[in-house]
Amino acid sequence: MTITRNGPDLARVVVADARHLEALMSIMRVGFDPHYGEAWSTAQLAGTLTLDGSFARQAVDANDNIQGFTLSRVVAGEAELLLVAVDPQLRQRGIGRLLVTQVADDVRRFGASAMFLEVRENNVAARQLYRSLGFADVGRRANYYTGSSGERFAAITMRRIVLD
Ligand SMILES: CC(C)(COP(=O)(O)OP(=O)(O)OC[C@H]1O[C@@H](n2cnc3c(N)ncnc32)[C@H](O)[C@@H]1OP(=O)(O)O)[C@@H](O)C(=O)NCCC(=O)NCCS
Repeated sequence: MTITRNGPDLARVVVADARHLEALMSIMRVGFDPHYGEAWSTAQLAGTLTLDGSFARQAVDANDNIQGFTLSRVVAGEAELLLVAVDPQLRQRGIGRLLVTQVADDVRRFGASAMFLEVRENNVAARQLYRSLGFADVGRRANYYTGSSGERFAAITMRRIVLD
């Protein structure tokens, strides 16, 4: 099912589920800087996809090749954006914005009133993307992430109200 399209030869966002595990993992493997260890394993992703309220979306090109994905979960009226990643070769073309915008539309339909996420404090691209889509900083957890050399990074909790 096609949900959204951002141009004739750009990405469209479609549903992803357990059948697309390998495609999602192909972006997972290249989409996260190994220094921060934020990529999930196949087992983690597969397990989360089976949880109540969890859902994934993928951006695909005209040939249905995956360009990026999101993983989210709605629990008790609140949504959490767990992961978003775009193929490094395809960044800064609007795919990340398209994917996160689609999540906001989805969670509204699922009845969530707010959407939360956690992002590493020094993840400039992601924080800028979220800010540009109306997310605001609402919390900070010191030493939440650990880099491969042992250095620690804070997590910023961001929130966007999705229902008026
Ligand atoms: C964050 C990420 C998903 C953005 O995807 P993208 O397709 O490049 O983003 P878009 O092209 O839609 O950019 C949308 C906005 O994000 C911001 N942005 C994107 N890349 C940026 C960068 N390198 N530096 C600063 N801002 C950036 C800009 O505000 C941009 O709007 P603009 O084009 O009007 O300036 C991508 O960089 C990524 O996959 N990063 C690695 C995974 C990750 O860290 N995920 C987040 C934590 S789970």
